[in-house]
Amino acid sequence: MHAAAFTDLVGPDGVDLIEQPDPTPGDGEALVDVKACSLNRHDLWILDGDSAMIRGESLPFVSGLDPAGVVRAAPADSDIETGDRVLLCPNQTCGTCDRCREGPENTCEAFSLYHGGFAEQAVAPAHRLIPLPESLSFAAASALPTAYLTAWHMLGKADVTAGDRVFVPGATGGVGLAGIQLGNVLGATTVGTTTSESKADRLAQFADEVVVGSDEEILVDGAGESSADAALNHLSGPFTDICGRVLRTGGTQVVCGRTAGATLDQHAAPFFLAQQAILGSTMGTQPELERLVSLAAEGRFEPLVDATYPLAETGAAFADMKTRDAFGKLVVTP
Ligand SMILES: NC(=O)c1ccc[n+]([C@@H]2O[C@H](COP(=O)([O-])OP(=O)(O)OC[C@H]3O[C@@H](n4cnc5c(N)ncnc54)[C@H](OP(=O)(O)O)[C@@H]3O)[C@@H](O)[C@H]2O)c1
Ligand SMILES: [Zn+2]
Repeated sequence: MHAAAFTDLVGPDGVDLIEQPDPTPGDGEALVDVKACSLNRHDLWILDGDSAMIRGESLPFVSGLDPAGVVRAAPADSDIETGDRVLLCPNQTCGTCDRCREGPENTCEAFSLYHGGFAEQAVAPAHRLIPLPESLSFAAASALPTAYLTAWHMLGKADVTAGDRVFVPGATGGVGLAGIQLGNVLGATTVGTTTSESKADRLAQFADEVVVGSDEEILVDGAGESSADAALNHLSGPFTDICGRVLRTGGTQVVCGRTAGATLDQHAAPFFLAQQAILGSTMGTQPELERLVSLAAEGRFEPLVDATYPLAETGAAFADMKTRDAFGKLVVTP
C-alpha cells in the first residue's frame, strides 16, 4: 500500500509517497481502508522537527491522527464488522491506571495518540472505532476527532452554557473554528479573531462577532474588555494575557496549544485580582467524540472541510496549513 510518510523533518517538503507492506492487524485490532484523514498542527510540529515525540531515527514516520474509512477486517468478538463505515478515536490509554479507572480517559497516565492515517490502510484498536452514520461524509467525520473533540472538551471544562460569551483568538483554524461552531451549538455568543481580512468574512458566517488584527489593544477593545465568560486559547504566548483581559472577573481560560508561544505570558496581578482560572486541556473522551458524531449527523453543526487532497499531495496540504491560507480543516483522501 501507499503511505504519505515524513522522510525528512524539514517542513512540508519532507513528505513523500512511499510503498509499504500492507499492515496486518494484531489481537483486538481492525484493518481499515482509509478514505479520509484530516491534518492537525500537531503533525506540522513533527514535520518541522519541533516535536520531542519524533526525531530523525524514527523516520520514515506516517502521521495522521484522524482516519475515517471502511472496515476491511475486524476481530470476531468486536462490535464492528467488515464493510462498516467508521471513524477512529485517536486516544490511546492503558485502561488500568487510576486515572483510566476514575476518568476522564484523556487523563490516563500513559495517554498518547494514534498515528498512521496518512495511508491507504490503517490498523487500529477495534474498540476505538466509532460507526459513522451515512449522512456524515468521511472527510467531514475525519475533521472531528482532534480539532472538534479538543474544542468540545475545552467548552465543557469552562462550563459554557447558553447565554455565555466565549472568546476564541485564532478562530479560523481547526480548533478555533470548532470552538466557535460548538459554542454556537451550546447557545453561547461567540467572538472570534483572525489576522486575515480575507478570512474574516468567512468567519463572520459562524461567529457572532469577529475582530480582525494581531495588536493586543485592538483585540481587547474589539472583543470587549472584561466581557467574556470563557476563552479558548490554542495559541498561548501573548494570547494568554489577551484572553485574561477579555475575560470577566471569575472567567475561565482553557489552554490547549502553543502556536504563538511556548509559555503562557500572563501578568500575575490582574489574573489574581480578577480571580480567573487557567486550565490545561488535551483532547477529550471517546463518548464525547461519539456525541459529536451524532450532533454532526443530526445537522447541529457542519465540520468545516476547506479542501481535500489526494495522498500524493499531502506535502502540499501541509504547505497550505503552514502559510495560514486554510479556513477550517484540510483533509487528505487516500
Ligand atoms: N492539546 C490538545 O489536545 C490539542 C489538540 C488539537 C490542537 N492542539 C493545539 O492547538 C493549536 C491549534 O491547532 P490547529 O490544528 O487548530 O491549528 P491550525 O488549524 O493551523 O490553526 C490555525 C489558526 O491559528 C491562527 N494562528 C496561527 N499562527 C498564529 C500566530 N502566530 N499568531 C496568531 N494566530 C495564529 C490562525 O490565525 P489567522 O486566522 O490569523 O491565520 C488560525 O486561526 C496547536 O498549537 C495545536 O498543537 C492541541
Ligand atoms: Zn491509564
